[in-house]
Amino acid sequence: MSAITISELPRHEGREVHLRGWLYNSRSSGKVQFLLVRDGTGVVQAVASLKVLGEAQFAEAGALTQESSLEVWGTVKADPRAPGGYELQLSRLHTVQRAEEYPISPKEHGIEFLLDHRHLWLRSSRQHAILAIRAEVIRAAREYLDDHGFVNCDTPILTPAACEGTTTLFRVEYYEEFSYLAQSGQLYNEATAAAFGKVYCFGPTFRAEKSKTRRHLTEFWMLEPEMAYADLDEVMRVEEELLTHVVGRVLERRRGELERLERDPARLEKVKPPFPRVAYTDAVRRLQEKGLPFEWGGDFGAPDEAALSEDHETPFFVHRYPTQVKPFYMEPDPLDGRVCLSVDCLAPEGYGEIVGGGQRIADLELLRARIREQGLPEQAFDWYLDLRKYGSVPHGGFGIGLERTVAWICGVEHVRECIPFPRTIYRTRP
Ligand code: 4AD
Ligand code: MG
Repeated sequence: MSAITISELPRHEGREVHLRGWLYNSRSSGKVQFLLVRDGTGVVQAVASLKVLGEAQFAEAGALTQESSLEVWGTVKADPRAPGGYELQLSRLHTVQRAEEYPISPKEHGIEFLLDHRHLWLRSSRQHAILAIRAEVIRAAREYLDDHGFVNCDTPILTPAACEGTTTLFRVEYYEEFSYLAQSGQLYNEATAAAFGKVYCFGPTFRAEKSKTRRHLTEFWMLEPEMAYADLDEVMRVEEELLTHVVGRVLERRRGELERLERDPARLEKVKPPFPRVAYTDAVRRLQEKGLPFEWGGDFGAPDEAALSEDHETPFFVHRYPTQVKPFYMEPDPLDGRVCLSVDCLAPEGYGEIVGGGQRIADLELLRARIREQGLPEQAFDWYLDLRKYGSVPHGGFGIGLERTVAWICGVEHVRECIPFPRTIYRTRP
């Protein structure tokens, strides 16, 4: 009999099956033991009775410790009271390895302890739900892009220059020289977009963030689409369609996980295009009306974004930020020289910015001037300037911060739970 997974149990009702997994929990009432077995696809209660198993096997079941690995054989029974709706009447079991005393018990643990044991913490029900949703977000985003003419064209991690400002660059030794870990794949996306029209990259990005907040990792994953012949409006249109598709897929395929996280699906069901579009200048007025001491020209901090998001139940766009708060490559707004054609997408409920993007400078001389003004090393950008010499076109794109998006969709407070192994200013272990 070949093994099946717990997720496949409904198709085997009434039949004898073979499962392989780990002991999640157990309790005993004399002649019957209830073993909660998990296998990564689900959890099932296996009922071990002395009468069926016999003394030796019954004692083996009783000796199992939390997270021991085991194989079980038994009959599948529908039981509406059981977790998952099915239970297993055990006929045989085999201990693969009896686990040592497991450090993570159902009692409360401090966050540092849990992060130190991240390699084990991943097995718990909440972490499992978050990471399953993360996987669904990735799959759905790729599905949308692949189905809409975007070509996946990945970009390098080791790069010669900064994309998003020099203050958060990680420098690494590279033979006799230095290289920098990529903050974004965007500049390379602009090159591949001129080859393919519509492209995206997806990979880890790195920022030596000095801030220790619930929204900052030093290594995070970004999904970055880029489009030739796209203006700011087209960037926003694709962004809202893509996010709507992703949220829809999570609602469709990860309902159980949302439930486990006690995330109200009604909030996510409201996500539909078009997302509200708020000009930066109007956003500043709103903040001032709310009594916040915000001056035109600054960048929004977390409290400002939280205050803005109070007015919305869905993600919304803030566009046309002052040129001075955005990177060198942003196209100026032809109607107002102080602002640029940039856009951030902010999630509701205080989550703040989850996507950043905009229209890029298409003109060679302006781009060169911006690189000089910002004191960036011009020779590191020579190839990037080439893109404006050989068939420059209006173009734009955006970068979705995966962990921030997952945190919002899951209703999770901190991005550190939204990546399998978080890297923050004070942590590069395990
Ligand atoms: O707004 P950012 O810096 O935009 C870019 O990097 C553009 N080059 C992207 C593009 O247009 N192709 O970063 C994009 C997103 C942010 O909105 C945020 O969600 C996420 O990346 N992000 C972080 N997530 C976790 N930890 C950090 N330290 C992050 N920094 C940015
Ligand atoms: Mg940003």
